[in-house]
Amino acid sequence: MPTVVPSTPDPAFEISLRPPMFSEFTGQVKVCERIELLVEAATKRGDVLEHILLSGPPGLGKTTLAHIIANAMNVNIKNTSGPVIEKAGELAGLLTSLEKGDVLFIDEIHRLQPTIEEYLYPAMEDYKLDIIIDQGPQARSLQLRLPKFTLIGATTRSGMLSAPLRSRFGMTARLDYYNAEEMQKIILRSAGLLNVEIDAAGAAEIATRTRGTPRTANNLLRWVRDYVQVKADGRITANLADRALTMLEIDRDGFDQWDKRIIETLIYKFNGGPVGLSSLAVAVGEEAGTLEEVNEPYLIMEGYIKRTAQGRVALPNAYRKLGLKVPAGPQSELFGS
Ligand SMILES: Nc1ncnc2c1ncn2[C@@H]1O[C@H](COP(=O)(O)OP(=O)(O)OP(=O)(O)O)[C@@H](O)[C@H]1O
Ligand SMILES: [Mg+2]
Repeated sequence: MPTVVPSTPDPAFEISLRPPMFSEFTGQVKVCERIELLVEAATKRGDVLEHILLSGPPGLGKTTLAHIIANAMNVNIKNTSGPVIEKAGELAGLLTSLEKGDVLFIDEIHRLQPTIEEYLYPAMEDYKLDIIIDQGPQARSLQLRLPKFTLIGATTRSGMLSAPLRSRFGMTARLDYYNAEEMQKIILRSAGLLNVEIDAAGAAEIATRTRGTPRTANNLLRWVRDYVQVKADGRITANLADRALTMLEIDRDGFDQWDKRIIETLIYKFNGGPVGLSSLAVAVGEEAGTLEEVNEPYLIMEGYIKRTAQGRVALPNAYRKLGLKVPAGPQSELFGS
């Protein structure tokens, strides 16, 4: 994982900054409106909320939203994640521990094993679980009835979800990067919770470098707080935020060393591409999965690189970012393809 700040994230820090209800959750307006409507309708009917799939890049608020939804429904939430569930029995244990209306939150749901996924289908659809106990001639199938529950799945890779699984969700919501104004608001709120003095310009300065990601914003804010406590009087201003973030080598476009390294490698080593993800990852010195899930979405959205059938290609923006001339010729034909 490319770390944005040179310190390990403190889970208590993250949890305390997590907005507990819709009214404190900034941005993702359409997604929130739709989910709030579902919650209101289910509450009015005295019914259980339908299954919801939350997708989008890391750090945008999927886990946060899952907890907000459970809070709004006034039910318990049980947390697990796709790769953690290794045996059908573990899934059975989780499901049977739920009470009516409870939320089962499965993070990284695209990483569920296919066999486990198949157990989930009847559980989601008919609230029953068919499990096989024992092996060989003694094998018996046992059907468990489950309470009506809500599954909330989160994924950074919705494309990797199988069609049967995806179709069992009543709603699919995709979270997107936050704009600068929303980021500024999130930073001001977090600063308030952390008891750090910050002015609007200071928050705006941090906001532009967060790549539209609240988790990054909170990490950068914590760094800037430490910086101003050591180097100044503890109050965050635009100038001090700039100095603190420059020290971290995070530039005004929110690029960290990894992002820079990716476009440099693409341009200098692979002549702008196209190059396959795995070759690029090896050359950059990062895992292909991390590159694809963490760095690429932002670089693609901001028009620095592009995915083509032949591989990754550097776009004119990437050349400009490195202060290079945009090449003409066959390479540039790929820009438009
Ligand atoms: N809309 C928001 N308003 C304020 N803070 C937010 C918002 N969304 C996320 N955050 C903050 O960002 C942090 C990261 O959010 P969260 O853990 O929900 O992301 P995620 O989408 O689940 O990421 P991952 O895919 O890595 O699990 C949270 O701890 C929370 O403090
Ligand atoms: Mg999460």
